[in-house]
Amino acid sequence: MGTKSLCLLLASVLVAYYVYTPIPENIEERWKLMLINAGFRTVAHVAEFAEWLGLMHYMEVLMMITSIEYTAPISDENVTVTDTKFNNVPARLYIPRKQSSGLKRAVIYIHGGGWCVGGSAMEPYDLLSRWTANKLNAVVISVEYRLAPMYHFPVQFEDVYTIVKFFLQNSVLAQYGVDPNRICISGDSAGGNLAAAVAQQLLDDLEVKVKLKIQALLYPALQTLDLDLPSYKDNENKPILPKSLMVRFWSEYFTTDVSLQEAMASNSHVPAESSHLFRFVNWSSLLPEKFKKDHVYASPIYGSSRLGKKYPGFLDPRAAPLLVDDTKLLGLPVTYVLTCQHDVLRDDGIMYVSRLREVGIEVIHDHIEDAIHGALMFITSPTDLALGHRVANKYIEWLNINL
Ligand SMILES: *[C@@H]1O[C@H](CO)[C@@H](O)[C@H](O)[C@H]1NC(C)=O
Ligand SMILES: *[C@@H]1O[C@H](CO)[C@@H](O)[C@H](O)[C@H]1NC(C)=O
Repeated sequence: MGTKSLCLLLASVLVAYYVYTPIPENIEERWKLMLINAGFRTVAHVAEFAEWLGLMHYMEVLMMITSIEYTAPISDENVTVTDTKFNNVPARLYIPRKQSSGLKRAVIYIHGGGWCVGGSAMEPYDLLSRWTANKLNAVVISVEYRLAPMYHFPVQFEDVYTIVKFFLQNSVLAQYGVDPNRICISGDSAGGNLAAAVAQQLLDDLEVKVKLKIQALLYPALQTLDLDLPSYKDNENKPILPKSLMVRFWSEYFTTDVSLQEAMASNSHVPAESSHLFRFVNWSSLLPEKFKKDHVYASPIYGSSRLGKKYPGFLDPRAAPLLVDDTKLLGLPVTYVLTCQHDVLRDDGIMYVSRLREVGIEVIHDHIEDAIHGALMFITSPTDLALGHRVANKYIEWLNINL
């Protein structure tokens, strides 16, 4: 064997070793997902390296890569698409062209990306909004809120709140021909977090007279207290969203100070003064047996009160909607929750389903056994997966029937 072939063989083995990740048994298109995941891991390594060299913040590298997927606001035969602003908050607006008598429905969509990356202009989000506008003949507003590390909590929350509150005025709804009784707020991942938080806070806002009909929370992040839930343990290294990245997203939402990230990574970031909050995320009582498996509930490990004082955001229900008292859940709209089995955030969604049902809110829970986090992102070539299309169709079908 020549030196060349030997080198080639060695290189192939290294590539195969790098690309290979265990993919859960029940997942389809395993090799494609493995390649996609290798792409994500490569980006993460580049970001780590650039940060280590002091060239760029980790999230800036991720942002640069996601911006490759940005599309211009191009109208098509069915939907008129424009980038605009409502009360100074940018958004991409989708208006269906179909002539219809009567008022239209509306969906306010909040994209995911860990409060740090992503955008309404990203190809998968743009496509999802077009599909929604077309299928439901609805006005869709995809919100362009500001991101970390440039902006930390509560800026993301406030941008979304501002735009939702502005849109929910009768005069604005009339301008767009929207039926005030048929409005939904939707979001995936960090967007599901913002949607849930905004829906809760609106309940106390006496200036807002129009009520949301539905909130749709797609694999949402809903709590910061316990980052060692069974889903975090079971899916620590599953494709797309490893626990380390989720911890980084959470801490980055509040600060770039690594001490919070380190404390969150060891799940010892919550000060003893906040111990009363743990009952809101007690998976021992809030998860069905099936998801507890052989995990054993352990009492929380408390951290220093310094972190809690310095970054009170992570204990704020506007960042962690599971941390409200039951009375604050009363009055929430009909809720659609989509959770994925192979996802660190799975148990956040499931615990919210339990809490909402306990106080009598109508909840429709779609749990997808063969799904990974971010499934909805995989609807555009070359990273499209049958899973992405299936989950997107399921969600849009549900909205079409129930909104
Ligand atoms: C427009 O809508 C029709 C019917 O839903 C669909 O078949 C077609 O693909 C849509 N066009 C675009 C550009 O999405
Ligand atoms: C969590 O629930 C279990 C029982 O289901 C209970 O023993 C434990 O004290 C609870 N812990 C907290 C912090 O609420």
